[in-house]
Amino acid sequence: MRLLALSLLALATSAVAAGDPKVGKVLHDKQCVTCHARQFGGDGSSIYTRSPRLINDKRALAQRVAMCAALTGAKWFPEDEENVVAYLNEQFYKFK
Ligand code: HEC
Repeated sequence: MRLLALSLLALATSAVAAGDPKVGKVLHDKQCVTCHARQFGGDGSSIYTRSPRLINDKRALAQRVAMCAALTGAKWFPEDEENVVAYLNEQFYKFK
């Protein structure tokens, strides 16, 4: 269990290190908009800029992306998640 937590942590951390925002945007626009738009209107992107913020660092962002990716049933690879994290961070969150 502890090992699992550690490797999940490593996964979330590595998801922050790399990633191509352009690839991420394509994946995101295809698979991540429906629910958010239903809840938040428009293209759903105001979910990423709402205040107060629920996501306050890159690790939380990577974890949320992983959770949402699991919700979609899209069967993404870790690289896909990395790319989407990179896109969301560049476009909306701007964590260092
Ligand atoms: C099945 C519906 C659904 C799908 C599909 C979905 N999400 Fe979400 N997403 C949610 C819900 C629900 C929340 C949390 C809303 C809340 O906390 O009020 C959320 C929140 C988020 C947040 C946090 C927003 C913030 O700053 O508070 C991120 C990031 C996110 N989703 C990314 C994604 C990504 C990336 C995808 C595509 C893989 C995706 N979501 C697809 C339902 C979905």
